Amino acid sequence: MAPVKVTKICCIGAGYVGGPTCAVIALKCPHITVNIVDLNQSRIDAWNSPDFALPIYEPGLVDVVRQARGRNLFFSTDVDKAILEADLIFVSVNTPTKKTGVGAGFAADLNYVELATRRIANVARSNKIVVEKSTVPCRTAESMRTILEANSKPNCRFDILSNPEFLAEGTAISDLFAPDRVLIGSLQTAEGVSACQSLSDVYANWVPKERILNVGLWSSELSKLAANAMLAQRISSVNALSAICEATGANIDEVSHAIGYDSRIGPKFLKASVGFGGSCFQKDILNLVYLSESLHLPEVAAYWRQVVEMNEYQKRRFSKRVVDTLFNTITGKRIAVLGFAFKADTGDTRESAAITLIKDFQSEKALVNVYDPQVTEDQIWLDLQEASPLVPLENIKKHVTISHSALEACKDAEAVVIATEWKEFKEIDWEAVYAGMNKPAFVFDGRLLVDADKLRKIGFKVTVIGRS
Ligand code: UDX
Ligand code: ADP
Repeated sequence: MAPVKVTKICCIGAGYVGGPTCAVIALKCPHITVNIVDLNQSRIDAWNSPDFALPIYEPGLVDVVRQARGRNLFFSTDVDKAILEADLIFVSVNTPTKKTGVGAGFAADLNYVELATRRIANVARSNKIVVEKSTVPCRTAESMRTILEANSKPNCRFDILSNPEFLAEGTAISDLFAPDRVLIGSLQTAEGVSACQSLSDVYANWVPKERILNVGLWSSELSKLAANAMLAQRISSVNALSAICEATGANIDEVSHAIGYDSRIGPKFLKASVGFGGSCFQKDILNLVYLSESLHLPEVAAYWRQVVEMNEYQKRRFSKRVVDTLFNTITGKRIAVLGFAFKADTGDTRESAAITLIKDFQSEKALVNVYDPQVTEDQIWLDLQEASPLVPLENIKKHVTISHSALEACKDAEAVVIATEWKEFKEIDWEAVYAGMNKPAFVFDGRLLVDADKLRKIGFKVTVIGRS
């Protein structure tokens, strides 16, 4: 069966994954019309804003949108029209961890995926290749297929593919331009293989063929969870070692450097930190835990759960170190938290370690000044409110102040806590920071970012993750 030549793509979901991914497809495939749709009007308005004030901050993204928008890239809330016109539809909606019901706290909430799938089934009048792009538990494609087949019209067939996205925020555009691999999972039927070829042909416009991997549907779904679990596992392993370093006088940076030289281990993803965040790692591991339990594999579930527990321990340990170092109390003391995003070069705050740290400092009745170069004030209040749902926002605002520069945040503080590795924190005028702080002035580097010796020479008392 000859593969369909894709000329119109619809992407349902204009978030951190769908937006950049499909914008890059549009850029690299000028012969394909790409419609990115979302139910959220303000998000779409931002994607369409004349001054390119896009809803997400991602280095290089504005450039991509500037070149393709209005040419073959369009953003809209008209989901049905985009579905009707497309040959290929990416489902790129959110799949947060369930908050209530069966599997609460572990399983993925597939409500958004299901609603989007039902909409495709109801609206489509011609054959569609439906591509699962959101991170979803294993066998979600099967559920999507059941919904589509049960609701399809005559002469309207659906082929399901799984095409997980491996981009990391902050480097999304370069990851999309030159991916390590593109993974496409399909049923191993003639139709499945043909649909897979259609999507492979889209990527082949800029990705070398040998980097486009075709596997079975369920291997593809599991590979996404597995990749994130393995990456997060490295960080938790290094963070576990950082606790040993702090207790023994070893230096985690040196340990990471030494083990990274082993070509079997490799140097990446061995940076100790105050804990990993982001929308994927914790969610995907908890998915894996839930899946393992459902499959009656309790030892496997416990193994992966420990990766998340180690991450929680790392955050708790760091907050405690701050309190211990500040003479066992931070009540009424002002603490500057530099960084609120879960990593540098993004405005995304999902599962950011900074949220936990600030909550811990609040419960010790400290006064917190927070500064982040990209996260909006509204987002900070939203996250802090969600972290302490029982505390009225007015009370949170009595103890937390949002600052507009690192220098302003550090003024009159007793301690500076680096929570995100923004490059600008490395380059701030630390002499001026020191001059404005109460003494002794403490710095807690949760990201192995600053030159501790240089800061000590200025007069700071510096505490670094993974060093005694
Ligand atoms: C991750 C995966 O890398 C990506 O392939 C997948 O598609 C989505 O999930 P992302 O969450 O955007 O991407 O960022 P990533 O760079 O993986 O960082 C995740 C967290 O780990 C961040 O909080 C980061 O600061 C932390 N991290 C990363 C460390 O603490 N140490 C490291 O060595 C690397
Ligand atoms: P991710 O990081 O996975 O991209 P986001 O939350 O950033 O997740 O983006 C998901 C987007 O999907 C949101 O903008 C949300 O409004 C959108 N969305 C969810 N359900 C639907 C739907 N049924 N139709 C269209 N858009 C949807």
